[in-house]
Amino acid sequence: MSGRKVVTLDGPAGVGKTTLARTVAGRLGVPYLDTGAMFRCLALKLGPGAETLSAEELRARCAACTFSLSGSGDTSVLSCNGVPIGQEVRTEQVGLLASRLAAVPVVRELLKEAQRAIAGQTDVVVEGRDMGTVVFPEARHKFFLDARPEVRALRRLRELEARGERPDLAALTEQIRLRDEMDRSRAAAPLRPAEDAVLVDTSDLDIDGVLACILEHIAAQR
Ligand code: DC
Repeated sequence: MSGRKVVTLDGPAGVGKTTLARTVAGRLGVPYLDTGAMFRCLALKLGPGAETLSAEELRARCAACTFSLSGSGDTSVLSCNGVPIGQEVRTEQVGLLASRLAAVPVVRELLKEAQRAIAGQTDVVVEGRDMGTVVFPEARHKFFLDARPEVRALRRLRELEARGERPDLAALTEQIRLRDEMDRSRAAAPLRPAEDAVLVDTSDLDIDGVLACILEHIAAQR
């Protein structure tokens, strides 16, 4: 594992990880890596049903995608084969495809290598589901964010509305529930807090409250 400093933020869908990762990274002056965007990008490129392909086929198709990270904080840019990954991966449908693909061990292995390679080049804030447990078990600062399901569904609703979508709250709540269940129950790197992660319930905190809590812990552990 690299000697670079890694801050891990894990947690379920809609808990606000991306906004927090971006903000924490901005405060620390380092880039943030949205590992969900890597799974989403592969899911979009490979299309529905990709999780049923053979391991060799998946290895070949995933290996054709090279990820890179540039910038820092707010201006961090994650690219696949030199092309920035954009809003096209952010729909709930692509999220579900990503969750299915993410249960396949060969896909996780390849992305784990890519995530470690990126963190070998820079200090970084990483967010995902298995950052503190599997990909960066030796990270110094680990956080697991959670929030009540109804709060997460409402946050995701606002996020999608801000992008001009008109999602249905009941359907969104069900999609998030399904995705969480898949992410928590899969055999390969299931969503769960690392034993040494700081647990933060963000249900009743705004972004500044969560940010203050995370930065305090980082400062105390330095
Ligand atoms: O964080 P997100 O909603 O963008 O992630 C989309 C899906 O990708 C998520 O439902 C599960 C998967 N994922 C994962 O399995 N491991 C990660 N480190 C990040 C995401």
